[in-house]
Amino acid sequence: MSQLSQSHLLGIKDLTSEDIQLIFETADNFKEVINRPIKKVPSLRDITIANLFFENSTRTRLSFELAEKRLSADVINFSSSTSSVKKGETLLDTVNNVLAMKVDMIVIRHSSPGAPHFLSKHIEANIINAGDGTHEHPTQALLDAFSLRLKFGDLTGLKVAIIGDILHSRVALSNILALKKLGAEVMVCGPNTLMPPHVEELGVVKELDVRNALQWCDVANVLRIQLERQQGGYFPSLREYSLYYGINRKLLDSLNKEITIMHPGPINRGVEIDSDVADSQHSLILQQVENGVAIRMAILYLLAGATS
Ligand code: CP
Repeated sequence: MSQLSQSHLLGIKDLTSEDIQLIFETADNFKEVINRPIKKVPSLRDITIANLFFENSTRTRLSFELAEKRLSADVINFSSSTSSVKKGETLLDTVNNVLAMKVDMIVIRHSSPGAPHFLSKHIEANIINAGDGTHEHPTQALLDAFSLRLKFGDLTGLKVAIIGDILHSRVALSNILALKKLGAEVMVCGPNTLMPPHVEELGVVKELDVRNALQWCDVANVLRIQLERQQGGYFPSLREYSLYYGINRKLLDSLNKEITIMHPGPINRGVEIDSDVADSQHSLILQQVENGVAIRMAILYLLAGATS
């Protein structure tokens, strides 16, 4: 197979496990390219890509822009905070105006779940979901799984605990869907108030005690508390959350086992994870960021091929 089954990347839900393997194999090649002295290839020389960020981002926005430039695409960047959205322009009008400038692909981050799916029903260009509200963050899940594949090889039977604010996390849902498609076992852990109703129906185990989760897992993917999406009242205070769910060195040392630590960023140091864990030799956090460029190059390259 040399083509994706989809012409958009809206969510992991739509990808087959063959799609994911194709993305990984393509990313292997691009990882080699970006470690060369000359990190650029001409693959997308005739393609124009618009990065439309209606929500804040550091990693995803810069990673997409770098991936596009490494592939020799022409790139335009849009931030809603400095745009005519502030004058009342709609999402669809904004995107149609961008497309009128002969743009081929849209990367979009939006606070509304389903915004990329809505666009896909109204426009012709390829769309990549760079995070839609609390729904999905497919490129994050792919770079996370790719990083695990580089460390562990086949993910079949690998035990991954996703710990933190599961309820508000698009990373959690996309990771659950990707890891299950790749044969891993997944546990979600956090306060019951931060668990989506019926989360077990996704084929994961729910655990409220972080020590039990850490005793079970090979990998802990630690998520931040998404205060910007919460109405409050999910737990008494950040201090209390950190006391019961924070991942710290003392807790890990008491388990007498090695656990690989992941975090999608941004990190709230001293809340969900302490610095001596985030920065330890068992942490994949900066490798996740590094691998994000190769994964996004692979997705852009494969989707561009899907239109030709
Ligand atoms: N992981 C992630 O999506 O980070 P940003 O919000 O900085 O893009």
